[in-house]
Amino acid sequence: MYYIGIDLGTSAVKLLLMEGSGKIANVVSKEYPLYFPHPGWSEQKPEDWYEQTIAGMGELLEGFDAGQVAGISFGGQMHGLVILDAQDEVIRPAILWNDGRTSVENDYLNQVIGKERLSSYTANISFTGFTASKILWVKKNEPENFARIAKIMLPKDYLAYKLTGVHCTDVSDASGMLLFDVKNRCWSKEMCEICSVRQEQLAKVFESYETVGTVLPQLAAKLGLGEGVKVAAGAGDNAAAAVGTGTVGEGMCNISLGTSGTIFISSKQFGVDKNNALHAFAHADGHYHLMGCMLCAASCNKWWMDDILGTQDYQKEQEAITKLGDNHVYFLPYLMGERSPHNDPDARGTFIGMTMDTTRADMTQAVLEGVAFALRDSFEVAKSLGIRIERTKICGGGAKSLLWKKIIANVMNIKVDVIESEEGPGLGGAMLAAVACGEYASVEEAAQKIVRVVDTVEPEKELAEKYEARYQKFKQIYPAVRELFTRIQ
Ligand code: XUL
Repeated sequence: MYYIGIDLGTSAVKLLLMEGSGKIANVVSKEYPLYFPHPGWSEQKPEDWYEQTIAGMGELLEGFDAGQVAGISFGGQMHGLVILDAQDEVIRPAILWNDGRTSVENDYLNQVIGKERLSSYTANISFTGFTASKILWVKKNEPENFARIAKIMLPKDYLAYKLTGVHCTDVSDASGMLLFDVKNRCWSKEMCEICSVRQEQLAKVFESYETVGTVLPQLAAKLGLGEGVKVAAGAGDNAAAAVGTGTVGEGMCNISLGTSGTIFISSKQFGVDKNNALHAFAHADGHYHLMGCMLCAASCNKWWMDDILGTQDYQKEQEAITKLGDNHVYFLPYLMGERSPHNDPDARGTFIGMTMDTTRADMTQAVLEGVAFALRDSFEVAKSLGIRIERTKICGGGAKSLLWKKIIANVMNIKVDVIESEEGPGLGGAMLAAVACGEYASVEEAAQKIVRVVDTVEPEKELAEKYEARYQKFKQIYPAVRELFTRIQ
């Protein structure tokens, strides 16, 4: 049998066809536009997601027996606000995870309702990217749209609805709405009241590996699928990526170097960090995880390469970097503001330390290092909670670069395990579908049987020491310029 994993990303939807054994049979990627209607705002059209997913599905199955597809599931960009009216029509473009427009609503939630109360209801505090502050923003700024809301959904859940006709979500993605009681895996009555949300506007919550419905007959016929293809709830892209890299069960770590950058730590127990600097979310394996999320990771490098240097040859630029650990230039990677651990939508990208002998390669190196240093900021929070991490998996577009993996291994001073495939969320989505269809007894069993480590990048003592010294300097830059970011807005 085949299983399809749909990774609904920010720049493209990636579809992956997996055999029951876990072997990847095909991968297809379809792009769609991302809109920045104001500085710091970020939107996409749910209709584009669906159109490209269906087009991609056709391409994915070309040359394969579509009748053998048993299940479909997802990893989806998290936190995006999708609102539907009573006819299930999209009311406005989705407001995405990296949108920073909700400072006022975010401050209201954190300061007036109060972080302690938020954390007691949901295990988290508010961040501008989270869904709750966006609902309040629509209420205040677009009251006519707010009045029409019949359903509030997350991005991948819109696809699940279009495939099955069922309004559903899963525990991992629901965790990022700030409307969800993470510990008890159910909606929070108190948060719904605070955000003027009626429970019937929210979707039914499933575990990620549970079946929510089957593909609608007309759509199945169009795609050449058989009858009764199961659709499993799926997961937020980070939880799905964790499944796809085998980051399940107790104390495992995964780093995702995608548009965002995340450090994800799985745990069998529910736990919250007392300052809520890390997100405490439900995991797709039935347990929990802690996560730090930076808003611009591989996208910093993409911006630097494509938009500033005007090149597509990333490898050539990286080959020019010859003195790892030695660089007088630092880069703060806050091109979209920053989430973890600073929670500062006003933060901005910054180069500092250039001199007349600074080269293009130094600047490129600073970008790669800046992302690694910012990930280490979240890693430090995890360490301060007593969590010991000696190795991590890695996935996402940035993980294709051996140089970047080496920088990360040395900046964090941990081993970086390289998996056979970097297709984290897509593979994780397909694995969740396989569990829903009974091909594997549990997510942990699927991970154990499917995921293979093929290489390990080890930190080197001397280089790790150099990076330790540089990180200590990097750490001082943001606090020194924080006030300035607000003043120059
Ligand atoms: C996680 C987050 C991002 C998006 C990217 O909290 O906001 O990683 O899920 O798609």
